[in-house]
Amino acid sequence: MNPYWSQIARDLSPYVPGEQPRIADLVKLNTNESPFGPSPLALAAMRAAVDTLRLYPDPEATELREALAAHHGVKPEQVFVGNGSDEVLAHAFVALLKQPKPLLFPDITYSFYPVWAQLFGILCETVPLDGEMRIRVEDYRREAGSIIIANPNAPTGIALPRTEIARLLEDHPDIPVLIDEAYVDFGGESAVPLIADHPNLLVVQTMSKSRALAGLRVGYALGDVGLIEALRRVKDSFNSYPLGRVAQAGATASVRDHAYFGETCARIVAGREAMTRELRRFGFVVLPSSANFVFARHPARDGAELAAALRQRAILVRHFNKPRTAPYLRITVGTEDDTSQLIAAAADILRG
Ligand SMILES: Cc1ncc(COP(=O)(O)O)c(C=O)c1O
Repeated sequence: MNPYWSQIARDLSPYVPGEQPRIADLVKLNTNESPFGPSPLALAAMRAAVDTLRLYPDPEATELREALAAHHGVKPEQVFVGNGSDEVLAHAFVALLKQPKPLLFPDITYSFYPVWAQLFGILCETVPLDGEMRIRVEDYRREAGSIIIANPNAPTGIALPRTEIARLLEDHPDIPVLIDEAYVDFGGESAVPLIADHPNLLVVQTMSKSRALAGLRVGYALGDVGLIEALRRVKDSFNSYPLGRVAQAGATASVRDHAYFGETCARIVAGREAMTRELRRFGFVVLPSSANFVFARHPARDGAELAAALRQRAILVRHFNKPRTAPYLRITVGTEDDTSQLIAAAADILRG
């Protein structure tokens, strides 16, 4: 190990993102990106913003926060924006989730949560999913300093109804509860309407999936002004300008383009249903997904082996090599053509 590393750097086990290979003609279904481009209005706004790059961006991202507030029916002071929801989540871990009692999250969920917990020295406990890979909110009735739940969960894609999130909040009125809604726009029920009655609820969303802006890095949090103030305190102790001018302009225009958003989300939901039907036809067990991906296993094939065989056929999917997830593949919903290629390759592999 390099002798100049701090103890913190030595102790880390960093998150490993899905591959971004530089190979042409790949069917890339491994990182839950949108197969459609961003809103044309967002592209135009970003091109125009390039001419203003001499100047620092608005540190408060006022226009973007106003657009998001209008979209979600909250006040601009209830909106916090950051450089991807990963950054917003990281700030929330420091600002809210680090408590003397443990942070609870599911044993199978976004694998960045334990990484932030380690980085920030946060005591945490995992709560197992049930036998059908579902989150049961009654399992969270235990001593806790804070809770984070991805809804829909990743990588399972299974969503909890809003009534269940309300139950979780009723059980835990005195601790911060964060709901990570990275995939909510593909059929989940957002917890945003619960914010009005729950000053301990923070909802985090991203523009990377449903708004096809993964490369721009824009995420945001919605919650009571008291929670947002805590996030701002952390942000302003770290980087006053997390979102550049191009990102602010593109994200704002995207939020205002309701028609394109609705149309592309509906196409992905239809694509997910088609992909699920086709995979089931070939014997895959597919969990009921409310996200832009499915989590599927084949009873006769090993998950790692299937992922490798698909890769040989230029199709990338994500495989998580942990005991309960190892049989599964997480497959992003791509275009109709991507799904046809996936299904043809799977059929070919299963014949062999
Ligand atoms: C559950 C969940 N939360 C948050 C993120 C982070 O998204 P981003 O940083 O692109 O906004 C992801 C990305 O895959 C995710 O799966």
